[in-house]
Amino acid sequence: MNREFIYIPVSVSTNTELKNKIRGSAAPVTAVLRAGEQSGGRGRQNKTYFSPRGGVYFSAAFPLAGDETHVSVLTLLAGLAVCRALESMCPAGYKIKWPNDIYLHGKKLSGILTELVSVGPRLTAVVGIGINAGIGKEEIPKELSGVMTSLPAEGLKSPDPAALTRNIVHLLDHYVYDCRALSADFSPFAELINERSYLTGRTVTVETGSETVSGRVLSVSPEGKLVLETDAGRAEIFSGSVMEIGNRR
Ligand code: BTN
Repeated sequence: MNREFIYIPVSVSTNTELKNKIRGSAAPVTAVLRAGEQSGGRGRQNKTYFSPRGGVYFSAAFPLAGDETHVSVLTLLAGLAVCRALESMCPAGYKIKWPNDIYLHGKKLSGILTELVSVGPRLTAVVGIGINAGIGKEEIPKELSGVMTSLPAEGLKSPDPAALTRNIVHLLDHYVYDCRALSADFSPFAELINERSYLTGRTVTVETGSETVSGRVLSVSPEGKLVLETDAGRAEIFSGSVMEIGNRR
C-alpha cells in the first residue's frame, strides 16, 4: 500500500480529521494522519480519550474492496499490530484486552477506535490508535493512575513516534491487503491474539447492547468472538464492552 504519512502538532481528533478528508475526496484515501496531541481525542462509546503531548496518536485509512466478510476483526488485528510493533521496538509483555485495548502490567497502555466511512459505493475503514508512549508517570492524572499506564511509567524508553506509527501501519497493511485477513480464515490471527489475551482466565461482565453476560473468559474464538463459560453454559460474544474484570482463576 502506497501511503502518505502526515504529521500535525495538534489535532482535535485524527479520526475526525481523516474521516472529513475521506468524505471530501473522490479518490480512495490511504493517508495516515498523526498528531503530537489531540484536543478532543475520542474513544469508544463517545468517551473522551486523554491525549496529551508525548503520546502517539494516529489514524490510518483502509479502503475496502467490498468483498470483505468480517470487517469487525479489524480492531483486533490493529491490536495485534500494536503489540508486535512494540514487542520488537520496546520489548515487554503487551496484552490485547478484547476488543480494543492494549494492556501492560495490568493497566491500559493503548486504545483503538475503528470507524467506517462510506463515500458513494465505497467503504473506507479508519483505524485510530492512541499509545501512551512518551507520557511521564507524573503526567498521568491521579484519577486515571489506577487504570492507565505509559511506557516511561513502566520504566521503558519510548520508540520514535514516526517509526512506531510506520511499523504498526506496515503490519496492518500486511494483514489486511497481503493476507486478506478481513475475508480469509481468521484463525491464524486469533491464535496470535490468544497468545497475548489479557482477559483469558478472568471473570468478566460484558455489556453487549442487548444484554449483560458474566462468566469466565475461555478464549478469543477463531472468528474473533469472546468466548465465556457462564452459569448457563458457553457464550460467544461478537461485540461488546467489558465492564468488570476479576482476577485470573
Ligand atoms: C478507546 O480507548 O476507547 C479508543 C481510543 C482511541 C484513541 C485514538 S487516538 C487517535 C484516534 N483519534 C481519536 O480521536 N481517537 C483515536
